[in-house]
Amino acid sequence: MSLTADRPLERHLIDIRRHLHANPELSGEEYETTAAIREWLRQEGVRIADYPLKTGLVAEIGGLLGGPVVALRADIDALPIQEETGLPFASRRPGVMHACGHDFHTAALIGAAVLLKRREAELPGTVRLLFQPAEEKAKGAAQVIESGALEGVAAVFGLHNKPDLPVGTVGIRTGPIMAAADGFAVEVDGKGTHAAVPEAGLDPLVTAAHMLTALQSIVSRNVSSLDSAVVSVTRLSAGTSWNVIPEKAIFDGTIRTFDEGVRAEVRRRFEQVVDGVAAAFGTTARTRWTGGPPPVVNDARWARTAAKAAERAGLAVVEPKPSPAGEDFALYLKEAPGAFVFLGTNGLREWHHPAFDVDEAALPQAAAYLASAALEALAELSGDDAGPDPVAARAEAGTRP
Ligand code: NI
Repeated sequence: MSLTADRPLERHLIDIRRHLHANPELSGEEYETTAAIREWLRQEGVRIADYPLKTGLVAEIGGLLGGPVVALRADIDALPIQEETGLPFASRRPGVMHACGHDFHTAALIGAAVLLKRREAELPGTVRLLFQPAEEKAKGAAQVIESGALEGVAAVFGLHNKPDLPVGTVGIRTGPIMAAADGFAVEVDGKGTHAAVPEAGLDPLVTAAHMLTALQSIVSRNVSSLDSAVVSVTRLSAGTSWNVIPEKAIFDGTIRTFDEGVRAEVRRRFEQVVDGVAAAFGTTARTRWTGGPPPVVNDARWARTAAKAAERAGLAVVEPKPSPAGEDFALYLKEAPGAFVFLGTNGLREWHHPAFDVDEAALPQAAAYLASAALEALAELSGDDAGPDPVAARAEAGTRP
């Protein structure tokens, strides 16, 4: 049986995506979204698994005769952005928008559920479907793990739509594919004084200004030219008046890295620069880290499986550049190996733009890819290969993906 979504299924998935798009909910508040997913799965006869989640849900297909467990994940939350697409199914909620395409991911995973349900009797194991809340706040994956839903999972797969890849392609790479997204907040404590008498105080503004400049040397002087990192200060605030040197300055921002070693070194240097500059100016400073997810790092074995699955679903495999955005799918990969891929959606705008949109022609492809990844992984894990390996066959023929 083919994994391709037929016309009625394609139409159904587009309806689902548009319904979600028109009714977006913020991270941790996905109550209606969860209820809608539950109902769509119920209509297909998919069993809902019992894991304690406030929003989001876990469902399962197969496993009637035991066997390995593989997981497929979609994130379901939206962003605090005012939509400007002008689409007929644009958000009905002011200031809330599916501007990262998680509506697309959710519809794709429901599509995969339908395709897998049709083959349930022949599944050599269980496919666990993770409809994850609160990805945008990097909180949901931890909640799903906490609920126990990753227990027993031998491999986990997920995807993100990718505007700069054409429809019909899947971007797969071994190693890092998305960045660690650390947030920082620094508080500089000085001593306030009259602006005309600076020698009576300790100026937190001059201190912070030197910190901002010195922090920019971390990437150029402490990170190898063969590695990469970003240090961005995005907000700086101090003072209330033109003739008063304030007590405090605060600034915050983000660090992006693709390697745990580089991540640790950049964070170490960050604190050293902040503490050292504060000491030089006689002020004190505190760095607070708001923990974002670690980098998303694909394992070679399961990246190969993902490539095979993509080809079986009729999609072209390309090797994308890693994205400096963060993704809490990284936390699943600490629990079980797996692969996170990009699926081409021909977008005109980047993620989180108020006019962000996806090409819905990619929706049945995303569903087919996810179903195919689960089938491929279950077949490999149960030692029953689903057929000749198109990647290996091509490699033998001397061509490369
Ligand atoms: Ni996203």
